[in-house]
Amino acid sequence: MFVKNTQDKLNNLKQKILDQLQDAKEKKVLRDLEIKYLGRKGEFTKILRELKNLKIEEREKIGKLANQIKNELQKKFKELNSEASEFNSSASEFTDVTLSGEKIEKGHLHPITIVQNELENLFTSMGFVIEEGPELESDYYNFEALNLPKHHPARDMQDTFYVDTRKETKKNGQINTNDLVMRTHTSPVQIRAMQKYGAPLKCVVPGRVFRCEATDACHEHTFDQLEGLMIDKNISITNLIATMKELLKGIFKKDMEVRVRPGYFPFVKPGIELDIKCTICNGKKCPACKNSGWLELLPAGMVHPNVLKYGGIDPKKYSGFAFGLGLTRLAMMKYGINDIRLFNSGDLRFLKQF
Ligand code: PHE
Repeated sequence: MFVKNTQDKLNNLKQKILDQLQDAKEKKVLRDLEIKYLGRKGEFTKILRELKNLKIEEREKIGKLANQIKNELQKKFKELNSEASEFNSSASEFTDVTLSGEKIEKGHLHPITIVQNELENLFTSMGFVIEEGPELESDYYNFEALNLPKHHPARDMQDTFYVDTRKETKKNGQINTNDLVMRTHTSPVQIRAMQKYGAPLKCVVPGRVFRCEATDACHEHTFDQLEGLMIDKNISITNLIATMKELLKGIFKKDMEVRVRPGYFPFVKPGIELDIKCTICNGKKCPACKNSGWLELLPAGMVHPNVLKYGGIDPKKYSGFAFGLGLTRLAMMKYGINDIRLFNSGDLRFLKQF
């Protein structure tokens, strides 16, 4: 009895909808009708929900009929929609153009995007191209070609998410593993860019990187970097420092006081760490600068000859510099954000401030 009832209900509803469709000539009317009957809270859907109370065989029978009717109606809606007019044609409806408009709420750019856009503008104005690379990267580009062979102790400096898809290929009787990692830095794109463009070359690479970190206010497993690479004849460390200063001026809109320390990264030689005076305490020492008065911002150095070779560039003819700016860290300093976890939190109270 229940089955018959539901069948009738469906057929009646179908007829009702078809009758109403006869007069529907405008898109808006069609849309409203479709929502009213076929939408998530529509009458049709309501009947479908009741199906769960039926026995299995009955449910199958009615379900089939319901789907058939629904498809038919959807087709009809589509057909009518393509013939319908966009605007209300009845002369009795009139639009008062003097009414004040409805305010449309504007979206916000993410603070990382803002800083990234600024830097991209700055570097393109200096003739750099913007490159991108994959976030799921081969062990080869992420480490090997950056002068970090397997089992090199310096790999420990970057806690790595190794992805377990070992693809073994055999070449000349030798087994090669093609391990994948979530890239730990944007540096692999140095090699990719060299292979793509050769020398001379000027590029920056913004992007997301991943480290297997325990998260706290200053550590995240996912953050952003901006890699920079310049290769040409006679490039020296003075070119590097001058470019870094230009970069900092572009971001902080004033000359920044910097200091240079030696730093170790296997893909540069010599390697440096460029620090800026703490923007929070202005060098007076505070928790944000670990009571040193300085903030580590820019690891950099002269590209190691082995890395140039991996990129297919002759280190006897060319030299270059590279830097790896922490975009996330920079955004924190620029806006005085004290917890890195806010960036990926999706919290609108945070995002709406930018
Ligand atoms: N890739 C390094 C890191 O993420 C930073 C770096 C880039 C250092 C380029 C030197 C040159 O730690």
